[in-house]
Amino acid sequence: MQTYLRGRDMITTQEWTKDELDTVIDVALDLKRRRALGEDHALLRDKVLAMLFFFSSTRTRASFEAGMAQLGGHAMFLDSTSTQIGHGDTWKEIGEILGRYNDGIAIRQVDWGIGNEYIRAVADASRVPVLNMQCDWYHPHQALADLLTIIEQKGDPSKLTINMSYAYAASYQKPISVPQSLILLMTRYGANVRLTRPPEFKLMPEIVAQAEENAKKAHGSFEIVEDFDEGMRGADVVYAKAWGSMLTTSDHDESAKISEQYKDWIVDPRRMEMADEDAIYMHPLPADRNIEVTDAVIDGRWSRVFDQAENRLHAQKAVMALTM
Ligand code: CP
Repeated sequence: MQTYLRGRDMITTQEWTKDELDTVIDVALDLKRRRALGEDHALLRDKVLAMLFFFSSTRTRASFEAGMAQLGGHAMFLDSTSTQIGHGDTWKEIGEILGRYNDGIAIRQVDWGIGNEYIRAVADASRVPVLNMQCDWYHPHQALADLLTIIEQKGDPSKLTINMSYAYAASYQKPISVPQSLILLMTRYGANVRLTRPPEFKLMPEIVAQAEENAKKAHGSFEIVEDFDEGMRGADVVYAKAWGSMLTTSDHDESAKISEQYKDWIVDPRRMEMADEDAIYMHPLPADRNIEVTDAVIDGRWSRVFDQAENRLHAQKAVMALTM
C-alpha cells in the first residue's frame, strides 16, 4: 500500500501507480464502512476545497460537496455564470489565488480541446492538489467509483469481461471522457476490456494505445468491436452510454446527423440477455431514458446505477483525504 499521496493531483488515473490506486479503493471501502457505522471521520477538519464548474453537474457537485462536509471541511462552489472564472481570470491567477485560499482545487471543464489543458495549467500554477471533476479527455473520479462498484458487485476485475459500449443519445454530443477513463482504468486491473463503438465514434488513438499497453502489462486484454450486439455477448459488465463523434467532426449538427444512424444502439432486455446471465448494467448518469437504455433495464434487475452513483461519494472522499 502506498501511503504518501499528500499534495498529488488527480487528473487521470493513468498517472497513479497500481499500488496508489489500490490505496484509494482500500480507503474508499474503509470510509464507506465508517459512514455506515456513523463513526467520526473528520480527516479534513478546517480544510476547504474550491470547486470550479464550467459545465453543469448534479452528482459530481453533490458528492464532492457532501464528501467535504463529511470529512469535516468545506466545499466552495464557484461556477462560470456567477463568477469571473469563465472570463477575465486566467489559469495562472486561478491556480495562484485559489491555491492560497484553499487546500484543494477541483475543476470541471469539458470543452473539447480546452478542458484538460486548462486543468493542467491551473495545476502547474497551484500549490495545492488539483482534482479533475471531468475534462474533455478524462473523468477519473467517475472511473474510480466505477472500479469500486465493479469490485463490490462482481469481484476480481481480472476475471471479468467489461463491455464499454457506445449507445445512441439525442440530447447533445457528450464528452468522451467516461469511456476513455474506464478503458484506461479497467485495463490496469487486468480485465478483458471490450470497446464497442461505431467507426465514427472512435476514442483518442493515444488513449487506446495506452489501454492496449495497460492490458499487456496486466495480462488482461483489450479489443475493439464495431457491432452493438457482438459487444454484448458474454459480458459480465455492460457499461453503455452515448458520446460525441469528436474525432470525426467538430461540427455539432454533422455529429448529430452521424449519430442518427445508430438509433438502434439502445440497451434493452433482449440485449442484456445476450450478456452473461449474471451481467450487470452500469451508466454514470444522467441517461437518456428509452433512447440510450430502456426503463426495463435501467430500473431492472441488471442495473447498479444507484450503487455506482453512491460510490462517487466514497471514492472521492478517499482521494480528498489522501491528497489534501
Ligand atoms: N456522472 C456525472 O458526472 O454526473 P454529473 O454530470 O451530474 O456530475
